[in-house]
Amino acid sequence: MSENVYATDSYWIESAPGRRHPPLERDVSVDVAVIGAGIAGLSTAWELTRAGLSVAVLEAGRIAEGVTGHTSAKLSVLHTLVYDTLRRTRGAEAARLYARSQTEAVEHAWEISELLGVDCELERADAYTYATGDRYLSAVRAEAEAARDAGLAASFVTSTGLPFEVSGAVRVTGQAQFHPRKYLLGLADDLHARGALLHEETRVTDLDEEDGACRVTTEDGAVVSARDVVVATHYPVFDRALLFARLAPRRELVVAAPIDADRDPHGMYLTPEDRTRSVRTAPYKDGQRLLIATGEKFTPGTGDTQRRFERLTGWVEKHFPGAEPRYRWATQDAFPSDTVPLVGPLHPGARHTYVATGFGGWGLSGGIVAGSLLTALITGREKPAWAELYDPRRVRPLLREAPSLLKQQADVAAHFVGDRLRSPDVDSADRLPPDTGAVLRTPEGRTAVYRDGDGKLHAVSARCTHLGCLVAFNAAERAWECPCHGSRFDPDGRVIEGPAVRPLQQRDI
Ligand code: FES
Repeated sequence: MSENVYATDSYWIESAPGRRHPPLERDVSVDVAVIGAGIAGLSTAWELTRAGLSVAVLEAGRIAEGVTGHTSAKLSVLHTLVYDTLRRTRGAEAARLYARSQTEAVEHAWEISELLGVDCELERADAYTYATGDRYLSAVRAEAEAARDAGLAASFVTSTGLPFEVSGAVRVTGQAQFHPRKYLLGLADDLHARGALLHEETRVTDLDEEDGACRVTTEDGAVVSARDVVVATHYPVFDRALLFARLAPRRELVVAAPIDADRDPHGMYLTPEDRTRSVRTAPYKDGQRLLIATGEKFTPGTGDTQRRFERLTGWVEKHFPGAEPRYRWATQDAFPSDTVPLVGPLHPGARHTYVATGFGGWGLSGGIVAGSLLTALITGREKPAWAELYDPRRVRPLLREAPSLLKQQADVAAHFVGDRLRSPDVDSADRLPPDTGAVLRTPEGRTAVYRDGDGKLHAVSARCTHLGCLVAFNAAERAWECPCHGSRFDPDGRVIEGPAVRPLQQRDI
């Protein structure tokens, strides 16, 4: 049997440590509280501050170390096959508005980084969605046509810079790629200089929505009073419209390996084949480029992630012989049932609370779209033409998304019921090898038990604190994961990623 494969830190996080911001320890009052300091939260905070509002940003972990710090960091308007999908499901005008909104976001990132003088390795690159066989070839052709109709510089091509043949690809020229954490640390520094409050390691647990006088309470009991509140926590931690039911969580693995600059395929490539594969490069040490390959899309808490890392590594080694992976990490996305992110009022009755979620793997341009759109809604400025397209309260598309909604709910039900009926992974903690986790049946109920490398057992309830599905162990990342809506917990039950906000209950074993 091959050796176990473990995840490392993301390259973006390792290569840009950044300054620390203190946890919030006192009550404060601001115009707007922004929950979450990924690209959606920080872009919104930055735009609001520029509009003259006082802002507090509350981040449960560290700035840009959640989803944004683990992406492949492509700033592109070409989102796999979105334009053909939109044209068919929501009409040509929706596809055009989506293209305009995303194009504006890519250009806005250039403007901001130039304005602030942020060295975030921003580079122009063409974006490709490609096929190597027949299965997706007609979809790729249709996407080229739909993207062109939507106003993009798109064309169907049969040759690319990849070191293997493709059967066809849609190419959109003039897109961008960057170092996401350096970009966001630049935004955070500017926010700080302009008097915004930035608090890391500040988990929020409660939101009280008094009209025009909202109160956000942190785990440590500090209260932020604000006229408006933005929830930008990936999966919304406050979800009064049950948006989680319209979002499917998917994890994707990333493997990064230095290559010589003359092997750079020059572009950002993605295929829906093989549970997705994507490639880009970034500047690296000694004139080399860092090849960043992603793929193996899966539902959190299912399957064998170590074997998936092996498959992705094997793909890199096959197509870029001699490339030695130096980093392995994973990212998680929330896929909306109708393909368009949910950005706008938090629920149908909301007047001062807003949400940005469901970026479906394209959260960098999507997060920048959210920043401008939410700022327009909060300040009362003229709304962009695409406000309705992204509005979480949209009703008509809901009917069209019914099949995908039903599938998502059926998957959740299958996990909620089926996982309980399943036999435990092992019948006793004594049988657990070091550095492994398993769900056991104990007198208190299903218990998630992890034996660390020193042989010590860590036991917590296997019941996810969001809505009660059972968690499963991801050995490659040493985390308990919930397959229903993607909450993740460390071996001691602490929340790594929501929508859960409370830890798994401790158990004695
Ligand atoms: Fe919803 Fe676990 S994330 S039940």
